[in-house]
Formats: sequence, C-alpha cells, structure tokens
Amino acid sequence: MIFIKSSKQSGKMKVFDKLESRVRSYCRSFPTIFTKAKDYRLWDVDGKEYIDFFAGAGALNYGHNNPKLKEKLIDYIANDGITHGLDMATKAKEEFLKRFNEVILKPRKMDYKVMFPGPTGTNSVESALKLARKVTGRELVISFTNAFHGMTLGSLAISGNMFKRDGAGVPLNNSVSMPFDNYMGDDVDTAEYLERYLEDDGSGVAVPAAIILETLQAEGGINVASVEWLKKIEELCKRRGILLIVDDIQVGCGRTGTFFSFEPAGIKPDIICLSKSISGYGLPMALTLIKPELDKWEPGEHNGTFRGNNPAFITATETLASYWEDDTFERQVQQKGEKIRAYLEKLVKEHPELKGEVRGKGMMQGIACDVEGLAKEICSIAFKNGLIMETAGPNSEVVKLMPPLIIDDAGLEKGLAILEQSILSLKKRKEVVA
Ligand SMILES: Cc1ncc(COP(=O)(O)O)c(C=O)c1O
Repeated sequence: MIFIKSSKQSGKMKVFDKLESRVRSYCRSFPTIFTKAKDYRLWDVDGKEYIDFFAGAGALNYGHNNPKLKEKLIDYIANDGITHGLDMATKAKEEFLKRFNEVILKPRKMDYKVMFPGPTGTNSVESALKLARKVTGRELVISFTNAFHGMTLGSLAISGNMFKRDGAGVPLNNSVSMPFDNYMGDDVDTAEYLERYLEDDGSGVAVPAAIILETLQAEGGINVASVEWLKKIEELCKRRGILLIVDDIQVGCGRTGTFFSFEPAGIKPDIICLSKSISGYGLPMALTLIKPELDKWEPGEHNGTFRGNNPAFITATETLASYWEDDTFERQVQQKGEKIRAYLEKLVKEHPELKGEVRGKGMMQGIACDVEGLAKEICSIAFKNGLIMETAGPNSEVVKLMPPLIIDDAGLEKGLAILEQSILSLKKRKEVVA
C-alpha cells in the first residue's frame, strides 16, 4: 500500500476525508476521483487518463466494461431477468453451471461440485475451512508464510501479514503457519520440512484438517511455488489424509496463463476457492469447488443473502463463451507474460540501483526492490505519470504489475514505458538530492 500526501490532492478528496472512514486505503494510493473506465484505461474528473496495471486487485481480468459482457448484462437487465435470487434455481445460474462444467471442468477432467458461498473471496475461504473441518473432524489448518486469504476471522487466522492479523482483536486460533516454497532459501526443501513436523509426535503440530495454499502468493510479494513443491504438498496430503485447498482467488481465471493456476503442476486439490474475476465484470461472485465425495454440507449450513447474484452469473457465463472455449486466450496471456518478463528483466539489468529481482508468472509479475521504500516511491510517481500500479509484499517492497488480461500491445507497451520513465525520474530526483 502506498500513501501520497499533497495539499492539492487532499482538497480534491475533501468529501471522502470528511465523511468516509479512515479505513479506506486504495484511494490513498490513487488519490483522485475516477469517473469512467474502458478496457485497460480509466479517466478521472480532470479528464486525465490512466493505464490500469492493477485490474481491480485481480477482479478485472477481462478489463473495465468489457463490451461482450456488457451487452449480455444490459440485455438481461432490460428483460427484467432475476437480479437477486439467494440460492434459488434460476435460468441464469443453470446456464452458468452447465457452461462452467462443459468449458472449464470437463476438458480438464475435473469432477467437482460447485458451491456458491457469499460473493467475496473470504467467503469462499471460510466455506472451504468449515467444510474441511467438518469432513475430517479436525480443527487445525496449516497455511504458509506470507499467505493472504481474506479479512474475516477464519481467513485472517491463516494469513501471514501481522498488521492485518492484529486487526482481528481476538486470538486467531486453530492454524499453524509453515514456510512457503523458497522461504528459507534454495537449500531448504520446505515441503520436507513440513512433512518432518507432521511425522514427528514431538513436533507440537497435530495432523491438520487441511493445508491451504496459493500457488503464487500475490499480496504476499509475488512468490511463485514451484511445480515440484506443489506436487510434493499434494502427495503428502494424500498420504496423510489431509485435504488440500488451493486459494485461486487472485491468480485463477487465467492470470498466470492457464484458467486454474495449478494446472501446470497437474495437481487436483480437494477444494478450490475462486472469486475476483470469475464474474468477469467486477460484479461480486465467488465459488467453492468441492470434490463430490466431500460435499457433506447439510442444506443451509453455509448460507448468505447475496449468493445468487444473477447478473454476475450472466457475465461469468459470457466470459466462458468469449475466452475459454479454446486455448487462444490462454496463449495470448502467456505471450504477453513473456513480453512483461523480458521488459522487467531489462529494467532490472539497466538499473542496478533498484537491487531488483523479477518475480511472477504470466500476467502477474513484479520487481522486488531490496531498497527500503523504493517500490512505493516508484508506484507513487507512476500514478502521477498516469499508471495505476500497486505494491505487494510484507514491507510493500514489490512493484506489482497486474494489467487486465485483455490489454493490447499498445497499452502494455505504454504502461511499461511509464514504469521505466518513473524509475528514471526517481533516479534523477535522488541524484539531485545526493
Ligand atoms: C488469494 C486471496 N484470497 C482471498 C482474498 C480475499 O478476497 P476478498 O477481498 O474478495 O474477500 C484475496 C483478496 O485479495 C486474495 O488475494
């Protein structure tokens, strides 16, 4: 998170300063009032244009006001389609379930029941935790260093960030944090380390109900788990009767180059959490995918008023028809990912003062800067130069690039050029100060 203070800007933000809670955060990083957005661009009240390398924190993989999705949504509303439906059966939901099964699950040989929890990521995580505990009869859940799973109490208990955890105000129980892949350097295999704890009756760590992980920790600093590590964790879960939950909320829906981020590892998690870009239009929606034999819920045992956001089902169904019926879109994302990689590698090489390391995969990449405060400064200058980009990592040390997946070459190049200019102007400013 970056915070920019300027008297001119604070004047602009007067209403928000006066009337909205202090808890707001993104408007401090991007202190302007936005009025309009299209594909990968946003405009503010002064008519200034911004390139979006943030994509609604991963909720806008298909861009702002995607025309294909918008057309379906407008038609649906104009025809008085159901808007609110709890978990009642509706045509919009039926269509989504059928399409999701045909276009996403079946071709990947994935047999899962679809649960609709409340329409946010943390709701999906809470439902996964509850179900894993119910099915196994165990309480403990193992998560990983630098994990982020959401802001409700169950999700916070399995998240690493101390600032966010402290906000809970109550003890966060029934979870143990273990080192993520590479957390202890190249020489320590943290999957073996974890297994040692589980096999040893003296370790103080009980057999958990589940292990929950992100294949790429987005908020946690763009930390990518290797395919080998993911396979090892899956194997150890199977061997020890532990459920494997993959939280694909931020890096699913194509972000890393495949629909599910774990596809290259060939693993089959027991439970999968999806949200953010599943509706495709920025409309709230979440899914929990459950292996059929684990679907032990009693009817109504995990309820919620806004589980049936039918306009979201309409746009979600259209994303499947428009982008996922063949592999064209996936290949485009992978190609754009390679382009981003090459550009970032070049930047890091040409600017050793960044002490930068390029991290990430597909269209979730970034530069980890080993200089305190530098990533924040780069993002803040980039914003002034018309690029919306966030930091990640426990100390906001990573410049995180997450453009909408539909961005064209011109948009991508323009955004990358603004990033480079921002690094150059920061360098100049520091030279003047020195
Ligand atoms: C991996 C992951 N899980 C869960 C969440 C929580 O989602 P939400 O903010 O919709 O509750 C997030 C949000 O950033 C996330 O990145």
